[in-house]
Amino acid sequence: MDRLAGTVLVTGGAGFIGSNLVRHLISRGDVSVVTLDKLTYAGHRLNLGDILGSPRHVFVEGDIADRALVARLLQTHAVGAVINLAAETHVDRSIHGPAAFVQTNVVGTLNLLEQAYLYWQKLPPSDRALFRFVHVSTDEVYGSLGCGDPAFTEASPYAPNSPYAASKAGADHLVRAFHHTYGLPALTTNCSNNYGPRQYPEKLIPLMILNASNGEPLPIYGDGQNVRDWLYVEDHCQALLRILEAGTVGETYVVGGSDELTNCEVVGMICDMLDEMHPRSTGGSYREQIAFVPDRAGHDRRYAMNAQKLRGELGWTPATSFPEGLRRTIGWYLENPQWVREVQTPEYRQWIATQYGGRSSA
Ligand code: NAD
Ligand code: DAU
Repeated sequence: MDRLAGTVLVTGGAGFIGSNLVRHLISRGDVSVVTLDKLTYAGHRLNLGDILGSPRHVFVEGDIADRALVARLLQTHAVGAVINLAAETHVDRSIHGPAAFVQTNVVGTLNLLEQAYLYWQKLPPSDRALFRFVHVSTDEVYGSLGCGDPAFTEASPYAPNSPYAASKAGADHLVRAFHHTYGLPALTTNCSNNYGPRQYPEKLIPLMILNASNGEPLPIYGDGQNVRDWLYVEDHCQALLRILEAGTVGETYVVGGSDELTNCEVVGMICDMLDEMHPRSTGGSYREQIAFVPDRAGHDRRYAMNAQKLRGELGWTPATSFPEGLRRTIGWYLENPQWVREVQTPEYRQWIATQYGGRSSA
């Protein structure tokens, strides 16, 4: 039996990566999906749009830390795989309030693991053998690289620096322990920075696209020389499906695009593309809106991923170059003003005011 022929429980499926992943799964035609999402400020039903009505998709609003709910969903829908994306995900918010990160990322993941283990134990042997728990994590658990350091691999030691990264590291360790101690067929993925349609505009790329087109400043933290390794969200989703289908249980897979860029380079490219795709009504370049602001506390200097294991063992390669993916992403934000209006809630405006209001140019 195909591991992708049954029902997959996707947690966090109304968020950025989750909603792109659910679309992929539904488009396969042979998979049913149960999406479990708490609909925090970052989760939106409209991210799922037309697939909310698909006969192979059930959307459930709820918390991964809700024991009874998770147990019921696994049982009622005869789930064959769990892909855990539910999380608090914004580093800057974790600096303002770490507790929510521990609650969802650590306690919530522990609950999912416990319920998945209880459910898996009682499955008939053939279903037990096929069941998978894929935990989606981040490169930030490995800490920060210097400019000449080799990229992170699965063997890199954990050294999380932000409360967000620490909470994801805690979850990763629990996943490892549930495999090692109880035999739960779990796998962990550690991915670099994603970008693409439906990313919440608190994150660098959508924030810059929307601020630029609204004539607002483009706030670059510190000296703008921090490096991130960018991966188009659809390539991440392809990697997750490949790992679900063919990854080895108990293993970790590093995922990354090997597209290393400084923040200044990324923002410069956004400005140049917007100059061409959506010229400023006042003339001149969007680069004139760039404003250097005081740095993020504990700001990691560089992330880079060596995805050789995933490429070699599972044959995955990213299909989208950064310029191509960025152009597509900018186009999506320009073409979806209704989505932009709906996610820019009063809570969002409050966040922007808190985060950037007192941050005068450096
Ligand atoms: P996101 O913030 O866009 O979405 C997170 C989703 O989780 C939201 O829909 C939210 O409502 C939901 N959620 C939060 N708490 C929940 C809870 N307690 N129960 C149920 N649902 C809850 O995040 P994203 O960027 O799509 O990231 C998804 C996952 O991928 C996260 O685990 C993140 O750590 C990981 N990741 C993200 C990136 C990236 O660059 N975005 C890179 C590597 C790994
Ligand atoms: O590396 C994977 C991680 O990437 C994910 O695990 C996180 O969930 C995701 O949020 C992302 O974390 P980052 O902190 O790298 O992403 P963010 O978009 O917040 O910032 C990217 C870089 O841009 C970082 O160096 C900080 C900088 N930045 C960010 C914002 C929001 C700015 O200079 N100005 C800004 O306003």
